[in-house]
Amino acid sequence: MPNIVVKDLKKFYNVGTEAEVHALDGVSFDVEPGEFIVILGASGAGKSTLLNILGGMDQATSGEYLLSGENVVKYNDKKLQELRRKKIGFVFQFYNLMPNLTALENVALSASVAENPFDAEETLKDVGLKGRLHNFPSQLSGGEQQRVAIARALVKNPELLLCDEPTGALDSKTGAAILSLLMELAERYKKTVLVVTHNAKIADVAKRVMRIADGKIVEDIHNPSPKKVDEISW
Ligand SMILES: Nc1ncnc2c1ncn2[C@@H]1O[C@H](COP(=O)(O)OP(=O)(O)OP(=O)(O)O)[C@@H](O)[C@H]1O
Ligand SMILES: [Mg+2]
Repeated sequence: MPNIVVKDLKKFYNVGTEAEVHALDGVSFDVEPGEFIVILGASGAGKSTLLNILGGMDQATSGEYLLSGENVVKYNDKKLQELRRKKIGFVFQFYNLMPNLTALENVALSASVAENPFDAEETLKDVGLKGRLHNFPSQLSGGEQQRVAIARALVKNPELLLCDEPTGALDSKTGAAILSLLMELAERYKKTVLVVTHNAKIADVAKRVMRIADGKIVEDIHNPSPKKVDEISW
């Protein structure tokens, strides 16, 4: 049974004005538990809008978004907050770590709002940062900061891991390492992962790629034999 069902999801801005924007214009898809999906699209296609709605950071204008059977489109602010705390792990392009907290404190803070979190220290070890627990973000490289951000998302033991251009700020070698790590962790922790990107190369590694353009899913491809991360050139 799918754990995500999206049906005719729409997000309109400035409704009824000349500046009306159809950021999502009737999006439908299902996701099975444990799938690793890349959503590919150009700038302005609606990728972040979609991810923000799936993550409970924004509300759709209409349509359905069922997460484990519940229609999130009907949620009020309190229910959305609960969703963000308990069910969603989010990874951003620019890490968004708390600058005045160490790596371990950033991850522990995230664990503290979750329902069944993993151990913060163990999770940081799992992303390869055993020796960096007590460093502040400013004392870490970009790739290391993104590892902390991945640990912060994963430690919550979320139902859904959402990544918005997770390698967008990194050089190609570091980006490839982060992508490998995400795929490896998704498998080990059995997490459903959605990665949005405008980088078509990244799509080559995923078993399923959805292409979004002008707020619509224009392609939904299953690729039974994806490339390995070290086989793609960025
Ligand atoms: N708060 C808002 N008010 C009005 N329009 C918005 C708002 N947020 C997004 N949009 C519009 O919705 C469309 C989709 O934006 P979105 O941020 O989802 O694109 P994206 O695919 O993530 O692009 P990028 O790759 O540049 O991050 C764009 O036309 C954008 O201008
Ligand atoms: Mg975006």
